[in-house]
Amino acid sequence: MRTIAHISDVHFGREDPAIVEGLLEAVAAAEPDVVVVSGDLTQRARKKQFWAARQFLLDLPRVPQIVIPGNHDISLTSVVDRAFKPFKRFKKFITSDLEPFYTDAEVAVSGINTVRLATVNDGRIKPRVVKIACGQLEGAGTGKARVVVTHHPMDVKPGDWKQRTVSKSKDAMKKFGDVGVDLFLSGHLHVGRTIATSARYKFKGYSAVVVHAGTAVSTRRRGQANAWNIIRVEGVGPDRGIIEVQPMQWDDVAFQPMALERYIKGKDGWALKSSKK
Ligand SMILES: [Fe+2]
Ligand SMILES: [Fe+2]
Repeated sequence: MRTIAHISDVHFGREDPAIVEGLLEAVAAAEPDVVVVSGDLTQRARKKQFWAARQFLLDLPRVPQIVIPGNHDISLTSVVDRAFKPFKRFKKFITSDLEPFYTDAEVAVSGINTVRLATVNDGRIKPRVVKIACGQLEGAGTGKARVVVTHHPMDVKPGDWKQRTVSKSKDAMKKFGDVGVDLFLSGHLHVGRTIATSARYKFKGYSAVVVHAGTAVSTRRRGQANAWNIIRVEGVGPDRGIIEVQPMQWDDVAFQPMALERYIKGKDGWALKSSKK
């Protein structure tokens, strides 16, 4: 079994210091094997905000981290920076690797940059980076959970017209289906949720789990308390495995476990089997 701490949208510059403390305590208590931070580390990509985000990453448990940028991690106002060096500060303060990858005996995790320079909010997933991620995941071998991390979501709640998937998600999903990606982790929406992809993407015999994380520590909440996810993956193979998603929500004192969702993998891919308090 592997435990992934899935944190997103910390938005330093708009963080609540008490919740940052609570998050660091709660993540340490979860004893993760890997920490994923799915973008929007800062509010406005300012130096001071990146310094704070950097310190936060250093204060997390000393386990491998997959950290990717979000749309807030490039300059909103400098046309020159956006055009020529959009990730200059992210690379300097966070990581120079915009296609991070981690693997061990049970999981392979590939991070993808979906930030689109031409727009402020929306993202796009490019064929070039999909190819890199698929190569990384296939190269990691079989018998482990294949995980893709994006800031903008690969799937959203069916029927919710206010939410959008990342642009070009259908083309990308076909490729990810071909290499059997099990789990997609994302942020951006500031609302936590899980979805099985088979409701939207009709690829025969394929269904993956999409997990959105809420905003972990920022005051930019959208109708949901600050939250992050503890994700446990176990025994994942071609037609077997368990993924449990345990959302953790802030209750003004500490992060508390919310209803746990359990997905099981069968011959048609992943499906939700139970949701319980
Ligand atoms: Fe965000
Ligand atoms: Fe975002």
